[in-house]
Amino acid sequence: MEIVICRDAAEAGRLGAAAIVDLLQRKPDAVLGLATGSSPLAIYDELARRHEAGEVSFAHARGFTLDEYVGLPADHPETYHNVIRRDIVGRVDFAPDAVHGPDGLAADIPAFCRSYEEAIAAAGGVDLQILGIGTEGHIGFNEPGSSLASRTRIKTLTKQTRLDNARFFDGDINQVPTHCITQGLGTIMAARHVVLVASGAGKAEAVHHLAEGSVSAMWPGTILQHHPHVTVLLDEGAAGRLQLSDYYRETYAAKPAWQGL
Ligand code: GLP
Repeated sequence: MEIVICRDAAEAGRLGAAAIVDLLQRKPDAVLGLATGSSPLAIYDELARRHEAGEVSFAHARGFTLDEYVGLPADHPETYHNVIRRDIVGRVDFAPDAVHGPDGLAADIPAFCRSYEEAIAAAGGVDLQILGIGTEGHIGFNEPGSSLASRTRIKTLTKQTRLDNARFFDGDINQVPTHCITQGLGTIMAARHVVLVASGAGKAEAVHHLAEGSVSAMWPGTILQHHPHVTVLLDEGAAGRLQLSDYYRETYAAKPAWQGL
């Protein structure tokens, strides 16, 4: 796991976007794993800027989103389907229907979850997965207690997650759905490169566990310690509780340029 402590979230965004641009130059039809939430926004802003500047095209790329609320009407502005379109998909040149997400209105949720796993596999698997992390360590919506081998399935959201996300629902936790469909930890682990981004002191404890804690279902992101290629992009606040922060800074400062992320 490579830890990169950036000056601020904008620098983290530039690095994350550069990894995606490099990938699309090598492999124009790459499969991207797209995450919602505030954490990836700096990456998406930079990608939109670089697309506008003619530096990157998504015309042949494919995408799969991580998760979705169950039961929100399709025209609700906070479905992750609509959020990801606002945040990135609609700002670049993805082909129509190139980006898929879990169907929170599926009549048969287990059957839908199986078909979602099959669609990711049929696309050749995810080349680069963007991730945020929740304050209690969830990735996607894999809440504490999630099976470390889980695949796409329905989950119950914790009260903490619903409180954290109430800001998108008029500050009212009662409007936040209680259930979601999320790619599992096993699904996320199958991506070839994982780029996790976190900013602010509110994420510092989760980031400390992610990088330096014991692997445990209590901090689901810790499963990424078993992944061979994870890049963690942090600002100073999110890095605030890391024990080895000096070492991470020295390592990144001395990294050969050819290595990339
Ligand atoms: C949300 C999403 C996650 C996201 C996390 C952190 O509930 N399901 O994909 O990474 O919680 O969100 P944010 O980046 O807004 O802090």
